[in-house]
Amino acid sequence: MVYDSDGMKTIVNAMNEAERGTVLDKIKAIVGPKGWTTDPHDIEPHLTEPRGLYHGATPMVVRPASTEEVAAVVKLCAAARLPIVPQGGNTGLVGAQVPWEDGKSIVLSLARMNRVRAVDPLNYTITVEAGIILADVQKAAEDADRLFPLSLGAEGSCRIGGNLSTNAGGVAVLRYGNARDLALGIEVVLPDGQVWDGLRGLRKDNTGYDLKQLFIGGEGTLGIITAAVLKLFPRPREIETALLALARVEDVMEVFARARAASGDQLTAFELIPRIGIEMTTNHLHALSDPIAAKYPWYVLLEVSSSQTEGGLRTMLESFLAAQMEAGLVVDGVIAASAGQAAELWRIRDGMTEAQGYEGGSIKHDVAVPVSRVADFIIEASEAVARAIPGIRPVAFGHVGDGNIHFNLSQPIGADKAEFLARWVEMNRIVHDIVAARNGSISAEHGIGRMKLEELTHYKTKVELDLMRKIKAALDPDGIMNPGKIVAPAPDGRG
Ligand code: FAD
Ligand code: MLT
Ligand code: ZN
Repeated sequence: MVYDSDGMKTIVNAMNEAERGTVLDKIKAIVGPKGWTTDPHDIEPHLTEPRGLYHGATPMVVRPASTEEVAAVVKLCAAARLPIVPQGGNTGLVGAQVPWEDGKSIVLSLARMNRVRAVDPLNYTITVEAGIILADVQKAAEDADRLFPLSLGAEGSCRIGGNLSTNAGGVAVLRYGNARDLALGIEVVLPDGQVWDGLRGLRKDNTGYDLKQLFIGGEGTLGIITAAVLKLFPRPREIETALLALARVEDVMEVFARARAASGDQLTAFELIPRIGIEMTTNHLHALSDPIAAKYPWYVLLEVSSSQTEGGLRTMLESFLAAQMEAGLVVDGVIAASAGQAAELWRIRDGMTEAQGYEGGSIKHDVAVPVSRVADFIIEASEAVARAIPGIRPVAFGHVGDGNIHFNLSQPIGADKAEFLARWVEMNRIVHDIVAARNGSISAEHGIGRMKLEELTHYKTKVELDLMRKIKAALDPDGIMNPGKIVAPAPDGRG
């Protein structure tokens, strides 16, 4: 075993090709013919990620069909010290689900474990396998006249195990919390192949450490989540959606505070969209047009919802909009007249990531600051990056009701994409220093993966990093679970 300068074990994968071949054959026997592939064509989609920043390698993608199969595979890998990269829908944005380029890890996809195990409407819970697609969980909840509120742009492809392992946020955190807040219990295959059955549907359970929270947000570095008991909520009967236009970013959070109060805290979403975001989405995405005739610098997509049919939300929203226009905080606005119109407004918001992709290089930041500091963060960070790269186009958008800003930087028009992207680390440092000065977070909802390893090491205290490393070493002493992600040293020594 080798130790790095911080005393962490690094992975020694001393297996030769013949030994690895034997382990892979044993895995094939466990999962059967439908449970694995070594075909380069089938493997390829598992090696890249949505931003195209990383391209890994693996000898095999394993697709177990049950918790027992996952446990048996992990037990074999533990004995052989063969690294495993768990994968859900492969929509993660920090490269955590992509194997390293050395080709020494297998990818373990949960995609075949996609069943709803049970719905308990009275307990307001649903028990699902980890590979179920998020939209299918939402649908199963709806069929039981309940709501599963986790919602994000990738909901048609991401899987619940991935959502939990990244502690996904999304557009409804403000009302219902992160993935972490939505899980009552989980089932996990530990790095030695043992199964921890923590599938309890309890709202109260103070029997020692809350173990599930180690795996939630653990990005597959501590174990493989195989199933979860999730919280459900009453299904909304009345939903109102509005797009508000603002002249000044300084007014956004004041409008937010007033909307919380005026709606009796029935706000479900409060999403910031800059003018450039409206332009990018309406220019690049099919059949989208500007919902408000005049142009304004800032917009907020706001949603309120109630489980009552006669909640009076529309009247409330109309008088709220009128009052804010009179106060000069909101300068224009549109309230969706139908579910179809609301969906059109959401298409603009949800299309932000895709539309930026058509505008050349984009340097991403997923940061959080206290809600009261959102505007001054955006102003200071926008000025700072413009000083470094004249013509740079900040696209500050997202879940500002949670203090979470996607501070993405599109390249100057006509700039060379590669040259722009080469300044990624420099831009990160500028932006993250401004975040740190506000006691904020350098990763609000996307995680650390491999993209933010150095940033985490830079901004976390030694005490925090030591604690994380001790947890990793205690649960996964041989470092086989998604090695080199979050805090573990990368095979190339980084982190
Ligand atoms: P993957 O990408 O497959 O994996 C992510 C991580 O989880 C990896 O570390 C992987 O090893 C681990 N993992 C996966 N399954 C398991 C398991 N069963 N057990 C243990 N570890 C596992 N994220 C947000 O938080 N909010 C957003 O609003 C949001 N919007 C997005 C919009 C778009 C268009 C896209 C492409 C992505 C967006 N994301 C967002 C990021 C992404 O969708 C989330 O991180 C999502 O939760 C990842 O789920 P997944 O199933 O795709 O996981
Ligand atoms: C979103 O909220 O749309 C994503 O998390 C943002 C992103 O792609 O950066
Ligand atoms: Zn987001």
